[in-house]
Amino acid sequence: MIKSIDFATLYREHLARSGRAFKTPSDWDSKATNMRTKVLNSTYRTDFVRRMQCTAEDSVLDIGCGPGTIGLAVAPQVAQVYGLDYSQGMLAAMMTNAAELQLNNVQPILASWDDDWREVPVCDIAVVSRASIVADMNDALDKLNQHARKKVYMTQLVGGRFLSREIEELLGREDRSFPDHMYIINMLYQRNIYPTLDYLESPSHLADSQNLEELLDKVRWSFGELSRDDEAKISTWYQRDPEYAQQGGEPMRWAFMSWTPPAHST
Ligand SMILES: C[S@@+](CC[C@H](N)C(=O)[O-])C[C@H]1O[C@@H](n2cnc3c(N)ncnc32)[C@H](O)[C@@H]1O
Repeated sequence: MIKSIDFATLYREHLARSGRAFKTPSDWDSKATNMRTKVLNSTYRTDFVRRMQCTAEDSVLDIGCGPGTIGLAVAPQVAQVYGLDYSQGMLAAMMTNAAELQLNNVQPILASWDDDWREVPVCDIAVVSRASIVADMNDALDKLNQHARKKVYMTQLVGGRFLSREIEELLGREDRSFPDHMYIINMLYQRNIYPTLDYLESPSHLADSQNLEELLDKVRWSFGELSRDDEAKISTWYQRDPEYAQQGGEPMRWAFMSWTPPAHST
């Protein structure tokens, strides 16, 4: 049964319903300076890299590499890193970081998920970190499986939201979530690929409120103005378990998926 469900179409329909306007390379160019050093010291980065296995002979293709968050972290342990991104600004930021870290085995590739990847090198390892909200997930999975010999490591938002699911549901706001990792797990299963699944957690965007007023401010920042009725709902939620509410409720979770691509001739 499950093998006959068209998850690729469901993914596309979910993405369309999210109302997501695709960002352009210049949108990302404008974020590159700010992101350049910020991403190099994060728990997320440490948690991701700790789950990877690399050897000194490996080549790594980091897709949607940004300023080199993952690629540069593993560069000292591997032979070669290729950072692929459609934003020239992000690639420049990655190369500045590589120079500052005195890494000379990093090469930028200006390309998009949507391009023809015939010229993109086939590597031992492919990495996709927080960069896989793509228009066509079938095509993206094909590209990953064709460009990794040993392993693919990929993260995708659990629940497809940056904002709190609990608060969104509490306020009865429209579900604008992105397609999440469950589509990918199912699409891999249909290809007889059985990924390992783990979760990387970070505090909710609503964390660190000392009292109800601070929590309400954080909720307004994320969800916009609140009616009296909205405030009453948040207040009831807060009173039910103040300690949990002060943590901002559920943590934000990234699904960390890794799999061995099917053997292919290169
Ligand atoms: C949220 S950042 C993630 C950067 C880095 N991988 C990390 O985890 O910090 C998303 C990156 O994906 C790139 N990106 C977005 N859409 C892309 C596409 N269609 N093709 C290639 N890169 C893309 C952006 O330019 C940006 O650098």
